[in-house]
Amino acid sequence: MRVLSGIQPTGRFHWGNYFGAIRQYIDLQNNEQAFYFIADLHALTTVREPQVLRQNIQDAALDLLALGLNPDKAALFRQSDVPEVSELQWLLMTVTQMSLLEKCVSYKDKKAKGIPADAGLFTYPVLMAADILLYDSDLVPVGGDQIQHIEVTRDIAQRFNSIFGEVLVLPDAKTLDESAKVPGVDGEKMSKSYGNTIELFPGEKPLRKRIMSIKTDTTPVESPKDPDTSAIYQLYQLFASPDEQAALAVKYKKGGMGYGEAKETLFRAAWVHFAAARARREQLAADPATVEDILRAGARRAREKGAEVLERVRTACGLTSRKAFLNADFRV
Ligand code: ADP
Ligand code: TRP
Repeated sequence: MRVLSGIQPTGRFHWGNYFGAIRQYIDLQNNEQAFYFIADLHALTTVREPQVLRQNIQDAALDLLALGLNPDKAALFRQSDVPEVSELQWLLMTVTQMSLLEKCVSYKDKKAKGIPADAGLFTYPVLMAADILLYDSDLVPVGGDQIQHIEVTRDIAQRFNSIFGEVLVLPDAKTLDESAKVPGVDGEKMSKSYGNTIELFPGEKPLRKRIMSIKTDTTPVESPKDPDTSAIYQLYQLFASPDEQAALAVKYKKGGMGYGEAKETLFRAAWVHFAAARARREQLAADPATVEDILRAGARRAREKGAEVLERVRTACGLTSRKAFLNADFRV
């Protein structure tokens, strides 16, 4: 069983990304053959500063590795290091109906938010289909907002197969458990686009400052408080054991504890939770050559599989076999 997923390097990862997605990808690497990539080609639809993109890609790789992605188990690579994916995207586009893409909610949402409606943004789901189909992926763990894109992928694969024969493997989506929608510092869903995130690896001072900025109501220190409506308490649940959670809930309900104290408790729990990952990240950041080696090795593994599938696709549609072509004319 091959599991595949991608994550866009559009900014620094935050607690929502970790608990809602990254942690679950990392767990899956233990049981399945896993391919995980940094979706830099997709990020180009919104990130237009090369320096920023380069930095985001590097940060994404460091974060994923620091958080426990094990390159001996899962192949970690940059999407753009596998050029086969762009070629497959074109081949898939030739069988993709406009009406299928016109239905995509994420395109409509992004357009409504003012992101330029470029052809790249519109055809984004076809690149995503190529990402998935290029490696005969069986299972694709994604958040709820991406389920429609997996359905589009299945539609495109079915259409291709109905025209050219059974060439592409139809993937299944695995919906990530987002039941605990991680709240941001304003109490709304944590998201880069709302500017309310708490990043994974700030220094001690900036992290404490960010946590202290979590919005609270004006209940006085001495009054009882409701843990269930408190973003501080919801965030604390991500880090604390059931006993620790119960202990903080008692303090909330008893009164006499200010929100400042609850925030300090949250800060300490989060700081300790990410301590090992923080240390690993520092080590890796000081050794960019190793990180580059990991990404290239991942891309080699991905290309090996991708070239095999693309060969199948090219021959099915009547194009030349790349293998024969390369060996005969283009020795590189
Ligand atoms: P953002 O909203 O910050 O741009 P993305 O859409 O890039 O984040 O998120 C990547 C994945 O991280 C999503 O598919 C989702 O599974 C997960 N995720 C993001 N924010 C949250 C959140 N607040 N709670 C739970 N999961 C989240
Ligand atoms: N579009 C996905 C997102 O924004 C990222 C992504 C790109 C992806 N290609 C993929 C996810 C292939 C799963 C499979 O979250």
